[in-house]
Amino acid sequence: MSQEQWGALLQGDESYAGCKSFYRLEASAQDVFGMKYIQPTHQGRAADYIMAQIYAKKGQYAIGNMHFDTFRGNAEIMGAIPVDFVIAEGQKANNEYHPFKGNIDIPRMQKLIDDEGKEKICCVIITITCNNNGGQPVSMENIRQVSSLAKKYEIPVIIDSARLAENAYFIKTREPGYENKSIKEITREMFSYCETTTMSSKKDGLVNMGGLFVTRCHDIYLKANQLAIVHEGFITYGGMSGRDMEALAVGLQEVTDFDYLDYRIKQVRYLGEKLKERGVPIIEPAGGHGIYVDGKKFFPHIPQHQFPSQRLVCALYEEAGVRAVEIGACAFGKKDPVTGADIWPELETMRISVSRRVYTNQHLDVIVNALGDIYENRDTYKGLKLIFEGPIISLRHFTAGFELVK
Ligand SMILES: Cc1ncc(COP(=O)(O)O)c(C=O)c1O
Repeated sequence: MSQEQWGALLQGDESYAGCKSFYRLEASAQDVFGMKYIQPTHQGRAADYIMAQIYAKKGQYAIGNMHFDTFRGNAEIMGAIPVDFVIAEGQKANNEYHPFKGNIDIPRMQKLIDDEGKEKICCVIITITCNNNGGQPVSMENIRQVSSLAKKYEIPVIIDSARLAENAYFIKTREPGYENKSIKEITREMFSYCETTTMSSKKDGLVNMGGLFVTRCHDIYLKANQLAIVHEGFITYGGMSGRDMEALAVGLQEVTDFDYLDYRIKQVRYLGEKLKERGVPIIEPAGGHGIYVDGKKFFPHIPQHQFPSQRLVCALYEEAGVRAVEIGACAFGKKDPVTGADIWPELETMRISVSRRVYTNQHLDVIVNALGDIYENRDTYKGLKLIFEGPIISLRHFTAGFELVK
């Protein structure tokens, strides 16, 4: 966090109800989102929980580009069916350059509405940037089109806005017509197309803890208040300390600074370019918050049922003490509900999320050297055997255990 955030933190007002820190956060969030009602939560997944309780309906589809796992888990518990409709370019690694690989496939969305009827669709959730396929952005045009299609069928649109400012940066630098707009003008326009948004503030809130549930509808806000009271805390803190709300109020302003974003996105791009120089296969173009290494291409001899990207996560940790995460066969693998057969995802990656304001490029060179060396010796690596998963398969990557294949 910045010195301004640490300074603000010391002024936290920890009153149970109506603390000053809440009103500072409320004003800052209203400014960035352009929406009126702000309910803090302790993390993004708590906002996901509230969102799922309000919008996810049993037996109905929740359309998304790619749902983040914590909403997916919450929606599945509610009996809803989350479906991922990211465009085809967003499902493949290393294909031709596409500036907005996080976009929703509009014809697929229309087809589901036509086939199933609008009553079978409970909501559309656009995740910006799309975390699961590489931190890939969603264009303003796509957000606008998704919103107008949903409006036609009275389907509510929600934005999962963990990386709202990074998405706005990509719109500003890649989408015609936005080059002269400020980041805040862009964020406000993005949110003008949705009814509600949730945020993991640990990302573009530039803080270590916190979440937000933000809506333009008073009735939805009242429902969120009730759920916050029973699960999070009183309306004006919702699971956050006053001091954390102060830091978030400042962080939301700092993240919309173009120079900050320019440093941030370019540092991630630096890592991607250096890895490419060593021959390491990555998903392109580089996303906002991290580099995603293509596990299938990295270890072509390790089949998906032996978790190539998870093996790579372990190898990087063994080699350099750097912790990445698998987004592939373990995170997205499913079982066929009828036959029980394994279904493996198209994208098989290791995500290296880069913490902002922490590393110099020389730190990133450590990752480049380690991964470059592992890549040179890739034939010597074998896969992994899954020995433990939890009861909810879509959440197993948080708890799974593996052993090395001999
Ligand atoms: C897009 C997205 N939504 C929701 C969450 C969950 O947020 P939290 O970790 O704050 O609970 C995350 C966390 O990585 C995320 O990236």
